[in-house]
Amino acid sequence: MKKVSLIFLALLALLLGWYLSRDRGKTNYEFLFNMRHTPASKSFSPNKVFSNGQTLQIPPEGTVPRGYEAFVASYDEAKTLTDPLTADEKTLARGQKMFEVFCLPCHGTEGKGDGPVTPKFPNPPSLLAAHARELSDGEIMHIATNGRGLMPAYASQVDTQDRWKIILYIRKLQKDNPS
Ligand code: HEC
Repeated sequence: MKKVSLIFLALLALLLGWYLSRDRGKTNYEFLFNMRHTPASKSFSPNKVFSNGQTLQIPPEGTVPRGYEAFVASYDEAKTLTDPLTADEKTLARGQKMFEVFCLPCHGTEGKGDGPVTPKFPNPPSLLAAHARELSDGEIMHIATNGRGLMPAYASQVDTQDRWKIILYIRKLQKDNPS
């Protein structure tokens, strides 16, 4: 056979291979590479493999993601806790960043309760007021973890270490703005 026809046949085989396995979402015809590529299901696509017909499965009850650190304490237990972290530059910078993303919209840049969503959302109490200064670190942690009144819980959005860092930053705001 001529060289040219060999190259042509090889290209044709490659093209056919690609054509038969172009949809990665289902089991395809494959030449030589059988079973190397398993069908990839999208998270929200239906799935025949599971009895509930869904791809994304609900985690079994009581399981936690790897590396997840839960903060579980009653208000009274939390009350006695102090922040376990030290306010070094890096920790404070992270605390500030997290505060600005998650707390500032309501509590405001300096914690005065004048964030951009107020007053459409009722103004929260100032974090610079005597009441907030007297809250223990653990009480603030409990509020940030579980929410209170109109304030939502942040445990699912801000991890435990980051919440402690936010508290260090709130303390810094309080120190920098003496009443
Ligand atoms: C959606 C608006 C909103 C966001 C975002 C928000 N808060 Fe609040 N926060 C409130 C409201 C409203 C209150 C008053 C709750 C109550 O007692 O009814 C409050 C109260 C508090 C208090 C108690 C103050 C006191 O003097 O009693 C603390 C501490 C606090 N928030 C910390 C945080 C932290 C930390 C974050 C970020 C992780 C945060 N908040 C995010 C609305 C918000």
